[in-house]
Amino acid sequence: MRLFAFLVIFLSGHAWAVTDIEQGKALYISPGKGGCATCHGQTGNEPIMAMYPKIGGQNELYLYNQMVDFKNKKRRNGLFIPMEVAMISYSDNEIRLIAKYLSTNGLSTNGLSTGE
Ligand code: HEC
Repeated sequence: MRLFAFLVIFLSGHAWAVTDIEQGKALYISPGKGGCATCHGQTGNEPIMAMYPKIGGQNELYLYNQMVDFKNKKRRNGLFIPMEVAMISYSDNEIRLIAKYLSTNGLSTNGLSTGE
C-alpha cells in the first residue's frame, strides 16, 4: 500500500513536470507572441544571426533572471532592444515555464542541439 502511494505521488509529480516543459515549449514556439523561435531557433540553439546567443541548455535560473531583467528594463546591454519588446507580453510564471523548457535543450559535444 505504501509503495502504491509512493508510485502515485512519483508518477503524478513526473506528469506535472512534463506538462510544465510542454507549456514552456508552446509559449516559446508561439509565433504570435514574442517570436522567440524566429530569432533563437526551434530549440534556442539555432540563432538566425551569429551575434545572437544560443540559449538552449542554459541553466533555468539564469534564463529566468535574464528574461525578467529584460522585461523590467534592468538589462540594457548589447542588443537588448528586441528582447525588451519580446518579453513584454509574458507573465513571470510564463517566463518560468519558458526557462524550464529551454534549460532541457542541451548541446551535444559537437555543438549541435540535442533538443527536438
Ligand atoms: C528579434 C530577435 C529576437 C527575438 C524575437 C527574441 N530574442 Fe532573445 N535575444 C535576442 C538577442 C539579440 C539577444 C542578446 C541580447 C544582448 O546582446 O544582450 C537575446 C537574448 C536572449 C536571452 C539572454 C541570453 C543570455 O545568454 O543572457 C534569452 C534568455 C532570450 N533572448 C530568450 C528569448 C525568448 C524566450 C524570446 C521570446 C519571448 C526571445 N528571446 C525573443 C534576439 C531576440
